[in-house]
Amino acid sequence: MLKILNLEAGYGELRVLKGISLHVALGEVVAVIGANGAGKTTLLKTIAGILKARCGEIEFDKRKIHNQPAERTVQRGCCLVPEGRHVFGTMTVRENLILGAYSVARASRHTDNGRSVNATLEQVYDLFGILKERSNQLAGTLSGGQQQMLAIGRALMSRPRLLMMDEPSLGVAPLVVKDIYKTIVNLKRGGLTILLVEQNARAALAVADRGYVIETGQIVLQGSARQLCDSPEVQRAYLGKEYRSIDE
Ligand SMILES: Nc1ncnc2c1ncn2[C@@H]1O[C@H](COP(=O)(O)OP(=O)(O)O)[C@@H](O)[C@H]1O
Ligand SMILES: [Mg+2]
Repeated sequence: MLKILNLEAGYGELRVLKGISLHVALGEVVAVIGANGAGKTTLLKTIAGILKARCGEIEFDKRKIHNQPAERTVQRGCCLVPEGRHVFGTMTVRENLILGAYSVARASRHTDNGRSVNATLEQVYDLFGILKERSNQLAGTLSGGQQQMLAIGRALMSRPRLLMMDEPSLGVAPLVVKDIYKTIVNLKRGGLTILLVEQNARAALAVADRGYVIETGQIVLQGSARQLCDSPEVQRAYLGKEYRSIDE
């Protein structure tokens, strides 16, 4: 579904992605794990079309999508849940969700938009009961975890076929991280393809089929989630097993 070849991107003089190649097959959950500053957000922003690819290719559903406008990529079915959530705090939960359907609704003039948007809204409410309960509340009054659910719900409103998530567990209480990851499992069961980036390797590898490890803009390791969890390098650098044994 997604194929990335030798992707390079960065900011001004700064070269961040130094030739990334990876793929995500239909129905898979793929995790990209790496430390703070490794280039995870840069990777997702480049796929989403927010940042320009300097070199390489991004293919989604057999179409080249690199350097297309971000809105077009969403319309094609590839949607990003950004790091830090970026919900609109002074708008209600429901308004935030409706906004998520906007670029897609506009693109499909021939269908009954109002009805299909409402149907999708009901699906999102089924998935996140709390968003239904709080639908008329301002998004800024939600907890961090609830805002993360809202950000995921807003992305789902565009009816993506590939959902990209940037650190869904960042700044969220541990118990709520569990809830969010349960939702990811539910979405996977529903057939959604997911590309997930995380510093929280433990959480991401627990739900992923496969994973990649990114260090300073390069993929240094890849394999099934099981293989990565068992790998001494991943255990040492990302799962913190050594730290725990020092504590003991
Ligand atoms: N807007 C930006 N302008 C300049 N440098 C940036 C910008 N965003 C990120 N960087 C730099 O790019 C590198 C990768 O950052 P990022 O992709 O955000 O990493 P991660 O998401 O893995 O923490 C870091 O060195 C970071 O300082
Ligand atoms: Mg990041």
